[in-house]
Amino acid sequence: IIVSEHRLYYLRGLADRFIYLADGQVSHDYSAAEFGQLTEQQSSDMGLRTFALERLLPPVLPQQAKTALALRNFHFAYKNEPETLHIMDCEIPTNRIVGIIGNNGAGKSTFSRCFCGLEKRCGEIVWNGKKYRPKDRLNTCYMVMQEVNHQLFTESVLDEVLISMEEANQKRAEEILSRLDLLDFKDRHPMSLSGGQKQRVAIASVIASKRSILFFDEPTSGLDYRHMKEVANVLRQVRDAGITVYVITHDLELILDCCTDIIHLEDGSIIDQYGMDEDGLRKIREYFIKGVSEK
Ligand SMILES: Nc1ncnc2c1ncn2[C@@H]1O[C@H](COP(=O)(O)OP(=O)(O)O)[C@@H](O)[C@H]1O
Ligand SMILES: [Mg+2]
Repeated sequence: IIVSEHRLYYLRGLADRFIYLADGQVSHDYSAAEFGQLTEQQSSDMGLRTFALERLLPPVLPQQAKTALALRNFHFAYKNEPETLHIMDCEIPTNRIVGIIGNNGAGKSTFSRCFCGLEKRCGEIVWNGKKYRPKDRLNTCYMVMQEVNHQLFTESVLDEVLISMEEANQKRAEEILSRLDLLDFKDRHPMSLSGGQKQRVAIASVIASKRSILFFDEPTSGLDYRHMKEVANVLRQVRDAGITVYVITHDLELILDCCTDIIHLEDGSIIDQYGMDEDGLRKIREYFIKGVSEK
């Protein structure tokens, strides 16, 4: 069996041999024991993701003010289906990078569609004393899709940002592009960029459109270490621009890198939420590492 993978942790104790390709050649050939001896530093220098989830540590994050929004009556059923989402009235964090976790089918994507107002009949959000019905949320929230190609429409990166503005303002558009390291690409066709760059163009448009909440659905699945780190940086840039980030993810490395809070969904309900303090770190490790040893 040959597995071509970026996520290595679940192959520990499973794979017998590790072959590292670079520039179309076999550059290293390790036995499982040799591979297990690599330090985190060595493997990250090689652009590899971690082999041992329990070795990962989150960076020390500056304390941010705690703010929240309220979810009210967040129930939803797809047509001719039993109710999929049954979230009790509750508060969830804002102005942060919030990881949304849960098993397949837990309702994460449904929650994000309902939250962003893409489903017309789901609940109310109360935020800063204001009520947001689904259609109000269409202008407040934005979902960055995995297939970002569907979200880019114009002939140039600059145009992409300009059309998202209420009133086109080139100076501000260039400022936003510069913040996302895209200014050098402003005249390029969006489709000529790399995946990560396209994702940043979509985000530049969101910042330009003054949406205040951004959802990502599994932005790092299939990405290697360097590209995962790039996404984490972009999420931080978005958060630093004052936008609340909700990121649906199965990527513990991404979570430890940039999430400050976790919402855990199962069977259409929020079964837990916590900050990434010592206790939160223990919980998130348990969730992911237990998942691995059970497989
Ligand atoms: N368009 C749809 N129509 C009917 N049922 C759906 C649809 N999308 C998702 N579901 C069901 O809703 C439940 C939650 O799915 P989903 O929100 O995609 O979960 P997750 O993103 O956590 O994997 C699943 O049981 C799934 O089969
Ligand atoms: Mg999903």
